[in-house]
Amino acid sequence: MTASTVPALRPLTLGQHQVWPPVVLAPMAGITNIGFRRLCREQGGGIYVCEMITTRALVERNPKTLRMIAFGDDEKPRSLQLYGTDPEITAAAVRIVVERNLADHIDLNFGCPVPKVTRRGGGAALPWRRRLFARLVRAAVAAASPAGVPVTVKMRKGIDDDHLTYVEAGLAAQEAGVAAVALHGRTAAQRYSGTADWDAIATLKQALDVPVLGNGDIWEADDALRMVAHTGVDGVVIGRGCLGRPWLFADLEAAFNGRTERRLPALGEVAVTMRRHAELLVDQFTAGARNPARGERDGCTDFRKHVAWYLKGFPVGGELRRSLAMIESLAQLDDLLGKLDPAEPFPVTALGQPRGRTNSPGKVFLPEGWLASRDDDTVPEGAEMDDSGG
Ligand SMILES: Cc1cc2nc3c(=O)[nH]c(=O)nc-3n(C[C@H](O)[C@H](O)[C@H](O)COP(=O)(O)O)c2cc1C
Repeated sequence: MTASTVPALRPLTLGQHQVWPPVVLAPMAGITNIGFRRLCREQGGGIYVCEMITTRALVERNPKTLRMIAFGDDEKPRSLQLYGTDPEITAAAVRIVVERNLADHIDLNFGCPVPKVTRRGGGAALPWRRRLFARLVRAAVAAASPAGVPVTVKMRKGIDDDHLTYVEAGLAAQEAGVAAVALHGRTAAQRYSGTADWDAIATLKQALDVPVLGNGDIWEADDALRMVAHTGVDGVVIGRGCLGRPWLFADLEAAFNGRTERRLPALGEVAVTMRRHAELLVDQFTAGARNPARGERDGCTDFRKHVAWYLKGFPVGGELRRSLAMIESLAQLDDLLGKLDPAEPFPVTALGQPRGRTNSPGKVFLPEGWLASRDDDTVPEGAEMDDSGG
């Protein structure tokens, strides 16, 4: 696949924002914080979505949630994802975002498949209730549009193969005035198993006039070009592919600009990236912390989950891996990174391999009577989560 075989290589338009390359860092709870986003932004262009923020927590001015809404001075556009199930609370949350000038773009999460969310009618379960879904999206757009802040939705194909919602929900979102629709080509029942259905993404692209963003199983930059060629989408959304490999954004920028170079960093370069990542997390946790030593420890603790992703496929012994996944300070990290062989070449066998969540399909837990009443637009009870970031 070369860039010349890919149609429509244009900047992605999100309201007043033009994004080039047309690449979106997917919101990932516990991952896409300000430090990780900066690390990715240092590699290439695109739009980088923050961790999910729940509308209730924002409306209640939850201090942890307010701290999570943090962007770099040079982060443009500032992209925020909201999770909500109640149109009024969502509208109130969006009003806070625009009145306090907290972000330049708002994405609404309708893709979360975790049982604690769907069993209450939230996340990936919500578009099934089509009137509630439309009301919620309209409320968000109405609250955001006076400030010129574009709203997008991110969703899955549906609850399961017998209860698909994506085309109808995409049309409803378009009708409600969204700037774009992103589709993760899996149902909630699939969770992260199997492969993403790019044909469904192509079907949605055919059905809508607003930009469509394709999401699912882009592990390498050339997968992104393949997805654009296969589906005609206006942009790609990258989740697990960049875990432990933030340089994927450099490859994506090269690919969308028609260049063929791809990064295959040796272990020494990976170690430099790991150090940079940890340092950015330490900066993030130190900013505003009363006790700077605590900031360093919290930043290092947050970094631990990334260690296995960075080292995937490299021949690094179990003991060193375990020690790296238990660091408490940057000095400890430096000491351990110094034990890696910098000349060890990138394990090309790991290319294209899934990283991050790859769980098996499962039953989708739903509120009683959910499937039988598509037109009921009652706000589901208790589906608003109080804390952000999942
Ligand atoms: C650790 C993790 C956390 C996630 N958190 C969110 C989230 O908060 N909001 C959301 O819309 N999707 C979330 N997702 C889903 C991703 O945004 C993306 O849709 C999914 O991983 C499929 O894309 P991929 O194949 O490129 O990974 C999460 C995924 C992972 C792996």
